[in-house]
Amino acid sequence: MAVCKCTGENVDSAQDLQLMELLDHYRNYDGGLIPVLQEAQSIYGYLPSEALEKISQELRIPFSEVFGVVTFYAQFHLKPRGRNIIRVCLGTACHVLGGSRIFKSIQDVLGVGNGETTEDLRYTLESVACIGACGLAPCIMINDDTHGRLVPGDMKKILEQYE
Ligand code: FES
Repeated sequence: MAVCKCTGENVDSAQDLQLMELLDHYRNYDGGLIPVLQEAQSIYGYLPSEALEKISQELRIPFSEVFGVVTFYAQFHLKPRGRNIIRVCLGTACHVLGGSRIFKSIQDVLGVGNGETTEDLRYTLESVACIGACGLAPCIMINDDTHGRLVPGDMKKILEQYE
């Protein structure tokens, strides 16, 4: 248990304390909701509902509005994400050269579907439209690394490189 210096309120974790300090900083700014949500997401790794409630209360913005913004923008996540984000390209060039077979082989290795995270929080799997590396099709990104000219049999070995 920690005590917030700004409000004197008891908070459960260092992350909650950081959130309170963040909210204190933005309390009197108009239009601060998006930067607050971005920073809150970098504190927790995602946006837990308790954090959204706190943001709504402290910034005096209706919860429905906060939730509406979070669900509108793809950059915000309501569930914990994996340490490694896998983006499988299903754009035209990758699709034509077997992108969906790559996607299926990753799903088979990890046992999760599109937009899902493995239970150990090691991987999150997502499909994307084009990652700008069409010459390497079919390709994927894992975090900031691009892997191209893939065949389904490559995937297990590639995934194992990411702890
Ligand atoms: S279509 Fe896959 S990288 Fe462009």
